[in-house]
Amino acid sequence: MEFFIDTADVGEIREAQSMGVLDGVTTNPSLIAKTGRPFREVLEEICTIVDGPISAEVVATDVAGMISEGTRLAAIHSNITVKLPITVDGIKACKALTGRGIKTNLTLCFSANQALLAAKAGATFVSPFVGRLDDIGQDGMALIRDLVTLYRNYGYATKVLVASIRHPEHVHTAALLGAHVATIPFAVIRKLAAHPLTDKGLAAFLADWQRTGNTI
Ligand code: E4P
Repeated sequence: MEFFIDTADVGEIREAQSMGVLDGVTTNPSLIAKTGRPFREVLEEICTIVDGPISAEVVATDVAGMISEGTRLAAIHSNITVKLPITVDGIKACKALTGRGIKTNLTLCFSANQALLAAKAGATFVSPFVGRLDDIGQDGMALIRDLVTLYRNYGYATKVLVASIRHPEHVHTAALLGAHVATIPFAVIRKLAAHPLTDKGLAAFLADWQRTGNTI
């Protein structure tokens, strides 16, 4: 399974990258706004940190605007993946950008039918938002199960990129279901390594070692 980090905070990206487990980055307009920095500057810096797909989202909502913004974003670096909302215009823009060899990530996916359209339009990734579905009392992971199954049924090359992850259990279930990618907030990446029995066991090992007087 590929791990992306879901942030535009370059400090978090550097820290996660130093763990050696990062395959890519996803940003969105809200995450960029949180940095208070110019969009292009942030993207250029991220591209120097991580060598993998880096999602940068358009803000135009019409097909011509999306194609124009997407083309400019893709020109920043070969790792830039153009993030487009799954709307009729977003699907058209996906088809056009894919035809020019530009990688795309179809975002704000909340249904299997949206994901089918994204795959048929040639999207590189589709981003189902599991946490936001859970937030309204629906089962985000049921959508992941559907997407993995239907892409497998028809051999679509589009990767299921599980987004809006809130906790480690989302990552665990996504992996069991065979999702290709999880984009994970920094705090959740850190939690993946945590277990109380690891802490307890380590403390006991170190205390026993101390008593031996040995060094390594
Ligand atoms: C995905 O690419 C989005 O940036 C993200 O996962 C949205 O998550 P949120 O629902 O926590 O805002």
